[in-house]
Amino acid sequence: MIAIRPLSQDDCDAVVGIADNLPEWFDEHARHAAIPIDAKHQNGFLAFDQGQAVGFATYFVAEGKLTIGWLGVRKSHQRKGIGKTMLLEMESKARELGIPEIATYTLGDGIDYPPYEQTRAFYFKNGFRVYQRGTTDNPGCPEEIRISKKIAQ
Ligand SMILES: CC(C)(COP(=O)(O)OP(=O)(O)OC[C@H]1O[C@@H](n2cnc3c(N)ncnc32)[C@H](O)[C@@H]1OP(=O)(O)O)[C@@H](O)C(=O)NCCC(=O)NCCS
Repeated sequence: MIAIRPLSQDDCDAVVGIADNLPEWFDEHARHAAIPIDAKHQNGFLAFDQGQAVGFATYFVAEGKLTIGWLGVRKSHQRKGIGKTMLLEMESKARELGIPEIATYTLGDGIDYPPYEQTRAFYFKNGFRVYQRGTTDNPGCPEEIRISKKIAQ
């Protein structure tokens, strides 16, 4: 039985523990520099299975969109609907705040890197569409897609 609750400032270790399980997606800097700070200062959710923290999501509001900062589910618990459940929580939050769109950005499909095919499959299956494509000088993300989904109010 999966339980979800809002993220608190004390959840940093639990979040980093999950991120450490996902090095194919989150590099060393993300896991040990960016995610700990963002998890402390962004809103979010933590998902538990029998008391073990198995998933996290963070979000912030920018450019009129509820924007997903980080999202991750332990490999052992993927494909069980936990990612979708956290996404639905963020969509409810957007609705509650009167924000009409949820968005994020990720690696573009011009880059052949299977882990992020999984990420894009997840978002596209859940109704996200590409609204902007770009290239960056970030070696970890040379091609970026910005994706979003309208939230029915
Ligand atoms: C994206 C992520 C959070 C989804 O979490 P999840 O709990 O596995 O997602 P759900 O169970 O709700 O949805 C599963 C759907 O995601 C996609 N998906 C998940 N794993 C997949 C895989 N190995 N191959 C292909 N598609 C996959 C599919 O569309 C799948 O639906 P299906 O099982 O009916 O085919 C999870 O894959 C993850 O932690 N990925 C690594 C981190 C990441 O990519 N974060 C987002 C960018 S910050």
